[in-house]
Amino acid sequence: MTKGIILSGGWGTRLRPLTCTIPKTLIPIVNKPVIERQILLLKEAGVKEVVLAVSVMSDIIERYFKNGEKLGVNIKYTQEKYPRGTAGAIKLAEEFLKDDNFFMLNGDVILNFNFGEMLKQHNKNQCLGTIASKIVDDPSPYGVLIVDKDTNQLLKFLEKDEYYPPNGKIVPMPINAGVYILEPEIFSYIEPNKKVSIEREVFPKLAEKSKLYHYPIKGIWSDIGKPYELLTGNILLMKDLIRNLKGQIKNLVDDSADIHPTTIIYSPCVIGSNAVIRENCKIGPNVVIGDNVFIDSGSVLKNCLIYNETYVSKQVSIETAIVSDNCNIKRDAILKGNNENLVILSSYVEVLDNVELIAPPSISLNICHHEVVKESMK
Ligand code: GTP
Repeated sequence: MTKGIILSGGWGTRLRPLTCTIPKTLIPIVNKPVIERQILLLKEAGVKEVVLAVSVMSDIIERYFKNGEKLGVNIKYTQEKYPRGTAGAIKLAEEFLKDDNFFMLNGDVILNFNFGEMLKQHNKNQCLGTIASKIVDDPSPYGVLIVDKDTNQLLKFLEKDEYYPPNGKIVPMPINAGVYILEPEIFSYIEPNKKVSIEREVFPKLAEKSKLYHYPIKGIWSDIGKPYELLTGNILLMKDLIRNLKGQIKNLVDDSADIHPTTIIYSPCVIGSNAVIRENCKIGPNVVIGDNVFIDSGSVLKNCLIYNETYVSKQVSIETAIVSDNCNIKRDAILKGNNENLVILSSYVEVLDNVELIAPPSISLNICHHEVVKESMK
């Protein structure tokens, strides 16, 4: 029976300060932790048992998922004292995964595609491993796959810094999407008790031996490595979820949300359970509001993510920003990012009345958790 393993043990340094209080794999994506969405996709493909390979902030992850009963899958954990690398992590779960092929997922990718189809292709090819791929315009931040277009066989696996575009010209290429199906034979290629990277030390060798295929994803894929990708990835999935409902629905609003009739919602938006939005607000487009969020009258929100339990006072303006859980943004405050440079508030930040937080032109403006911001930063 095909099982699953999800890598959930990285530091998530590029997503700091959000990951100072939330493990990267519990970061909400359209109001559900990124790996909860992955587990649900595995379940749809018939997977009943999942291992979470945890390390950094493992207690928070285990407290959230427990034994998986709530999601209807059996969840086990392997614990690394220090992160063992992407191959080292799965080697620890060998006992559990040795009887059949298994899905291996990087716990930091937003996905919405049919895992069952990928499994079908993997079984048909009878190979050691299948790597899901996505064609992106600029492959330079990713592992690049050189493939045989007719057979889907992988000819070469090149990690981030090993791919040089022909004549220095960037062209769209299939990249490693961080979703794999592997046969138990993979374990014979991973040395035990060592930090080992599957991307650097295992896949390139297997590609040379013609043991790998790729599976082009037909659906949603987005990395959440960096804050801007987290924002755009949320928007991408939100649009996909709304599109899949196939009706006239333009926003996903929880039934328990209480929105004043004078407030205008510009689609697409997602509004979580028990959220309250008072009169004369303008919300959207591209806004995800978490559970138990309160937004007082006259506030304007655009292109932003607001995590659970946050309080936004009257006449606040938030644009191109990520506001983590339990923040308190007081009257007339302004949070404004630009393009890829966001304003990011970590958990429990308080922004006082009239404070303006404006991201500079080439860098995000980050506020650490529990800070009280008394003065403007522009
Ligand atoms: P950055 O520090 O920002 O690079 O993030 P990261 O630590 O999450 O690293 P990366 O983006 O390379 O990780 C991809 C996925 O693998 C994420 O889901 C990580 O949680 C996970 N991961 C990375 N290294 C390890 C590891 O050593 N052990 C385990 N169990 N998971 C890991």
